[in-house]
Amino acid sequence: MKNIINKKDWWKDEVIYQIYPKSFNSSNNNGVGDLNGIKEKLFYLKELGITTIWICPIFTSPMADNGYDIADFDGINPQFGTMKDFDNLLKECKKLKIKIILDLVINHTSDEHRWFKQALCDKNSKYRDYYIFKEGKHPPNNWRSIFGGSVWEKVVGEDCYYLHIFDKKQPDLNWENKQLREELYQMINRWLEKGISGFRIDSITFIKKNADYKSLPADGIDGLVTCKHKTRNQPGIEVFLNELKEKTFEKYNCMTVGEAPGVNYTEFSNFIGKDGYFSMIFDFHYADIDVESGSDWFKRTNWTTKEFKSLLIKSQQALQKSGWGANFIENHDQPRALSKLVKKDFQTPESAMGIGSMYFFLRGTPFIYQGQELGMINAKRDNIKQFDDISSIDNFYRGIEEGFSEKEALNFVNMRSRDNSRTPMPWDNTKYGGFSNYKPWLEMTEEYPSVNTIKNTVFDFYKKMIFLRQNSKISSILKTGSIQFLSDLSDNIIAYYRELYGEKIYSFTNLSPTTEEITIPKEIIKIYLNTHTNKVLGKQFKLVPYQSILFK
Ligand code: NOJ
Repeated sequence: MKNIINKKDWWKDEVIYQIYPKSFNSSNNNGVGDLNGIKEKLFYLKELGITTIWICPIFTSPMADNGYDIADFDGINPQFGTMKDFDNLLKECKKLKIKIILDLVINHTSDEHRWFKQALCDKNSKYRDYYIFKEGKHPPNNWRSIFGGSVWEKVVGEDCYYLHIFDKKQPDLNWENKQLREELYQMINRWLEKGISGFRIDSITFIKKNADYKSLPADGIDGLVTCKHKTRNQPGIEVFLNELKEKTFEKYNCMTVGEAPGVNYTEFSNFIGKDGYFSMIFDFHYADIDVESGSDWFKRTNWTTKEFKSLLIKSQQALQKSGWGANFIENHDQPRALSKLVKKDFQTPESAMGIGSMYFFLRGTPFIYQGQELGMINAKRDNIKQFDDISSIDNFYRGIEEGFSEKEALNFVNMRSRDNSRTPMPWDNTKYGGFSNYKPWLEMTEEYPSVNTIKNTVFDFYKKMIFLRQNSKISSILKTGSIQFLSDLSDNIIAYYRELYGEKIYSFTNLSPTTEEITIPKEIIKIYLNTHTNKVLGKQFKLVPYQSILFK
């Protein structure tokens, strides 16, 4: 079957690998990953078969939030290298036919950005209006920032506060200011002119704030309330998002994947429809199944596979109805999927393959986060001092404030910490896993001597999955076929088929610790993938815990 994706939608053809540059590979062996380190490992990515890399922020930054606090959009963080290194990386990637997308962080800057510094030192400078300042002797309202505490930080020496949805070192930009928007668009176009293929767009649903700036009833002991109700996906955001697309992305036919929490399914077509703002978006409805909200980790849920399945189905149906999805089970803000989705005694390489195969063939572009292809699990830390991530530290103290013991609070953080997925990439079993000769900025995971890139069955399985989607006889079905879920099966079985011109490929996964008996109406003709060694044949078969099969 020939490839039926049209050129305009080239991004439907991709398999994207997410790189957290600080933790990928340290070429100068100083314990911090860098751009040359990525270049050194392109052969590894090529072997895996991915076609695009998304690199988390590499720009000049004081690294309060590991690069999501940008001090200069046009500069490369010296920790990661130079612009020359970036250009070389881009060149090498081009040779290998690997595309690069970068992280676009335009909801906020670092407080060390030239604009913000100007805004602070000169009240009358035009940059004052690039940010959100409010005069007064007290914080204007009781909104809580995503990383804890008030969203308002007092300006030293003035009766005035500035707004930060994330950390106080990440002041929010004022998108109502046209000149600011123009500056952002020009910066985006400069990067696109360089030849990158697009962007992952950070926290983009936060750029419009509710203009009333009114307090709401508190939702925590701190007397504050999550700012999300008033700052996320607010009416009027469509004007900014349309303009952003028209003045930048559209002109380059680049790919864009919006980090778009807070968008209802009924609004998906505005975001990813034919004339949508983005090529695709990440949907968090099932990613955050283990916590009540992505930002309060002490509010844990007791989720079941049935609930997970129902959220996954709703998500896929909404994406299919409106446009295209960006499918993922891990990223730099999430715990390792094997630790989150699989029960403790079953966190084996086979289960890592099982959950991999469950999501990889969903309709959309698959994303793989570094180390996911190795079957990595969460790190266990027994002291809050071992954490680097600002959100982990905040969640620990908020947990305690909410009445949990230190032990309990630490347990919540261990399960959810963003540092779980930010540990250095284990390349081999030598000291520091071949990531660096010098002590890495964050401790390696305990298992690295056995879970690394040398002889790894999960890696081999991911390679096979990528091959099937990209280069096999069933590629077109897996890329462009419609998706339909099967409903008359056990709650623990996630089963769907992809269909194109009447040809169907089925994916069945047992997302549970119990063996499940399956009966299907038609015999299996051919098995493409089986994560476990037990044979699966005929119309009736058993799937052991976390087993996944792909078949015709
Ligand atoms: C979402 C990013 O994924 C996260 O890592 C970051 O801390 C926030 N946005 C703020 O930029």
